Amino acid sequence: MSSEISRNTLFGAIILTAIIVGGIVGGAFYYFGNDNNPENANVVSIYHWWTSGGEKAAIDALVSVFSDQYPDIAVQQTTVSGGAGYNFLSVIKTLVLAGEAPDAFQLHAGYEGQPYYDADVLEAIDYIWTDQLKAAIPDVIEDMMKFGDHYYLVPVNIHRSNVLWYNLDMLTSAGVDPATDLGTMADFLTALEAVKTDCSCQPLSMGETWTAAHLFEQIMASRGIQVYQDWINGEITDATNADLVGALNTFVDLMDYINTDSATLSWDDATGELISGNAAFNIMGDWANGEFSLAGKVYDTDYGTVPVPGTDGMYGLVMDSFQHPKDVAHPQNSDKWLEVVASKAGQDAFNPLKGSIPARNDADLTKYGDYQQGAIQDFKNAVYLFPSVVHGSGAPEAFKVELSNIISQFVTDKNVQSAAQAIVAAVTDNLDYYVKTWNLMST
Ligand code: GAL
Repeated sequence: MSSEISRNTLFGAIILTAIIVGGIVGGAFYYFGNDNNPENANVVSIYHWWTSGGEKAAIDALVSVFSDQYPDIAVQQTTVSGGAGYNFLSVIKTLVLAGEAPDAFQLHAGYEGQPYYDADVLEAIDYIWTDQLKAAIPDVIEDMMKFGDHYYLVPVNIHRSNVLWYNLDMLTSAGVDPATDLGTMADFLTALEAVKTDCSCQPLSMGETWTAAHLFEQIMASRGIQVYQDWINGEITDATNADLVGALNTFVDLMDYINTDSATLSWDDATGELISGNAAFNIMGDWANGEFSLAGKVYDTDYGTVPVPGTDGMYGLVMDSFQHPKDVAHPQNSDKWLEVVASKAGQDAFNPLKGSIPARNDADLTKYGDYQQGAIQDFKNAVYLFPSVVHGSGAPEAFKVELSNIISQFVTDKNVQSAAQAIVAAVTDNLDYYVKTWNLMST
């Protein structure tokens, strides 16, 4: 754990320098008309990692809602690119723990906020959680916004993690019917073989490090909710566990169909392979929908989705949130930002472009496209909800970071036994951080 912190600190310091330099140039715009002290300027400073085309369009739409309501407050956005926040989170943690927090920053719901809560650097924001807001947010989401007895986060969305995206033309050409041929991992492997023969390509597109861990997490989920629950509760501690070994073996089977340059592709590059027709399938969260939309692709005509094989009836939860760090430069503006993030207007501007569904239950459904209309129904009808590990909610952060590194190595060496041992060790080494017991069967 301590070596993780020192690695993060070093990396954070390097990036921090870049941010400060960039901020001096990029942020100067926002300080006109006030005295020369940025802390007195009427701004709200927010940090996030939304830099892909779809992500940027979504956060800009949310910022527009804020600017319409508060035209006198300039929104200063600072970004650290890199999907799922793997670059961002080490930078922001360094800043926040050093007492240099921005007015609000992107954070996944659940476990990811625990280190900040433990370090006592977040304000309790029970006053933001009015009765109206509580009534609009499903209990399962509301619970992940709290630490101890208080609220510390507000959600902006609900992303789905267990989505298999496909290029419809390529499936049709190979004789694969997504409605009937993708129900199980065994079916999926058969379909991959058919498409591979037809397209003479590597049909399953995958990207860098964390996207491989995302795929592994989904394979774990495909083994059933009980297995997934045991895993995120830190209860799979035997490296010969049949489900852990079975999941790794399935990953090896899938690798026969995965592009060999995965390490060089970002998540949106990997999704882009479907858009350009270089690959037929991609397992990715539904932020991918923003990229298809931006490319002008039509749902159920050019591309489509099914749940990751083996996870029908399950809904993998990835939720982005913001919070109010202690001692920020603009505390009132921080609260105003949180109110807009949690608002119907804010969520109905952000989510249609983001690919996520709103965290609120009173959204204006006419604003959402065909993919999201289906996702909203699937969320309502889900038999089981399961929080993502790779996206910060389901298991301690220390485990999540180790998992990404382990799976990255596994993609290179395909060594099932050593990966199983490393995953189990990452659980047992971090058992002290498992402070929550999930009961996913009750959802
Ligand atoms: C997730 C995040 C999403 C999306 C994605 C790719 O972790 O919750 O909002 O941006 O990463 O960056």
